[in-house]
Amino acid sequence: MLRDRRILLAVTGGVAAYKAVYLARRLLERGAEIEVIMTEAARRFVGEQTFAAISGRPVSTDLFGSSRVSPHTELAGWAEVIVVAPATAATMARLAAGLSEDLVTATLLASEAPVLLAPAMHTEMWQHPATQRNVERLKADGHQFIGPAEGSLAGGDEGPGRMIEPDEIVAAVEAILTGPLKGWRVLVSAGGTREPIDPVRYIGNRSSGKMGYAIASVAAARGADVLLVTSSTLPPPAGVELFRVETAEEMAAQVWNLAPGVDVAVLTAAVADFRPAKEIDSKLRRRDGVPELVLESTPDILAGVAALDDRPFLVGFAAETGSLDGARRKAMEKGVDLLVANDVSEPGSGFGTETNRVTIIRPDGASDEWPLLDKRQVADRLWDLVAQIRQS
Ligand code: PMT
Repeated sequence: MLRDRRILLAVTGGVAAYKAVYLARRLLERGAEIEVIMTEAARRFVGEQTFAAISGRPVSTDLFGSSRVSPHTELAGWAEVIVVAPATAATMARLAAGLSEDLVTATLLASEAPVLLAPAMHTEMWQHPATQRNVERLKADGHQFIGPAEGSLAGGDEGPGRMIEPDEIVAAVEAILTGPLKGWRVLVSAGGTREPIDPVRYIGNRSSGKMGYAIASVAAARGADVLLVTSSTLPPPAGVELFRVETAEEMAAQVWNLAPGVDVAVLTAAVADFRPAKEIDSKLRRRDGVPELVLESTPDILAGVAALDDRPFLVGFAAETGSLDGARRKAMEKGVDLLVANDVSEPGSGFGTETNRVTIIRPDGASDEWPLLDKRQVADRLWDLVAQIRQS
């Protein structure tokens, strides 16, 4: 949480300035106090009134003519962290050169608070040697960067240069201010496994990987080293090391290989419990009649991690339909530190959805029901809880 933390949001002139509005809202929802400053160019993209209405405070845009005597030094001293989002090539160049002719650069120069820059620009501008030189210089000066991501850019172009999503910026701000996951090595499993029947068919399930990716992404943004073992085809979250697998057997091998030495393992993957005992070499034909499939058990990946001598803090997930009694049993019997249960038959929860309603169950049976939240918010709260338990 960011309760009462003082965050200065500096918005500079790019199309991604519209995303800074959502960023401001998310920071406020996390309990932060925010002040917004804007460059003249930023005001061409988004009006200052929008930020003023969201933050409940006037927006500062000018070094002179403000009600403050010395806006840049006042704001510089007030901020616990300064977020520049979007950070344009021009603003980064000015900051790298130590120029201070507008309110944003003057405030940045006057502040000792940590600075987080979220660049946004066209690929050619980002990759230009001058911009890269400025990035290196700013890093050497102690400034931190998040992104840019790859994706669609203004004017229909594609490539690196897209501003990272606001929720990831919020998590990075939390990492700077609280740093609970710095130095942690975290393993996350995600997606649904596919167990081949023949070269074209498989036994699978409805997991999209969204829940696991949110957990991996938040952990990475909060400073953890994240290893993500996944059977999902979603684009990987920023800052994680990715291990692609398909079957339960492959996922087990990869998870068991990586688990020794990690601090926390969160196993969100929907792993098949059964697979065809034998994969048929060539495509089954209708004319050969209805085949008989013999199934066998897959490895229990979670049990393998729980059995490690020096096992990580272990979080399991449980997909249930209706009653959570099965999940309560798993929490007590599976050797986990926490079990996250979701009723996948409930609308808005479980497979493929953007949201989830989960119940956190501890090995002693104590449980806590969380409201319906975005999967990213579930991830935020889960990491808050894990950090709190591990630090107590
Ligand atoms: O991916 P999404 O579309 O976002 O959907 C998210 C989700 C519904 C998949 C997720 O929230 C979830 O519930 N994941 C767990 C699904 C599951 O397999 O539950 P389970 O009750 O069958 O398994 C319990 C635990 O044992 C899980 O941590 C699972 O990863 C693990 N397991 C299961 C079988 C197996 N052979 N090995 C395992 O390690």
